[in-house]
Amino acid sequence: MTNIVFLTGAGISADSGLSTFRDSDGLWNNHRVDDVATYEGFVRNRKMVYDFYNDLRRQETSLKPNPAHYALAKLQREYKNGKVTIITQNVDDYHTVAGATDVIHMHGHLHQVRCENCMHVYRCDTDYDETTVCQKCGKAGHIRPNIVWFGEMPLYMARIEEELEQADIFVAIGTSGVVYPAAGFISRVRAIGRAQTVEINLEPSEVNRLFDRSIKGRAKDTVPAYVDELLSAQK
Ligand code: OAD
Ligand code: ZN
Repeated sequence: MTNIVFLTGAGISADSGLSTFRDSDGLWNNHRVDDVATYEGFVRNRKMVYDFYNDLRRQETSLKPNPAHYALAKLQREYKNGKVTIITQNVDDYHTVAGATDVIHMHGHLHQVRCENCMHVYRCDTDYDETTVCQKCGKAGHIRPNIVWFGEMPLYMARIEEELEQADIFVAIGTSGVVYPAAGFISRVRAIGRAQTVEINLEPSEVNRLFDRSIKGRAKDTVPAYVDELLSAQK
């Protein structure tokens, strides 16, 4: 058995045309993180936050997965030597649209909302705001994006820890390695001491030196090539 765990970040969706967070034309360049990615910002100005995520979801829907997403989905389908797990920090739906069947969205999902009255989480592909009525409890005024904001706990951490413990290969793709806990997964994997580790990124990340191997380039080229390497190694 060779279990492979991927951690993906904004860099894998950059080749679809979606802005990353920290590159020069990045999302956080045009917005104050405090305004659109904290609970305090949401309390201060709900409309700004609803507009931000509605716009982002519309932009995401107008674009498509790229060859990197398709390659990981293909690997999940065709790899017979063990499990292929995709943990993503991305809130876009591209891994799933490309055909991946098991994607752990640790930072939430652009196409989901959560009701703060009854805590119900559900898929929502249309605009929502303070007047939106919860599908479950029927109350208006309690819907928020199901996105993990700064200061909030990432989702599925127990499952992620289990996957990291079972990983034989750990691959980080397109992530700057500055937002924890995801940036700390490489240290955790090293402490467990079992996996080979690979970073695939346009430029070395903040945690690049902790990886055994580094592949530089654009995800749309490097990821399909790396997936082919894994698929041919199993034969
Ligand atoms: P960043 O914007 O911090 O980093 C993107 C990384 O992708 C950088 O290291 C780039 O060099 C690299 N990159 C850019 N274009 C690429 C390409 N075509 N191919 C390969 N790599 C490329 O994004 P993340 O690390 O994902 O959290 O950011 C982590 C978290 O910070 C996000 O999930 C978000 C943000 O705050 C939440 O929203 C909770
Ligand atoms: Zn509700």
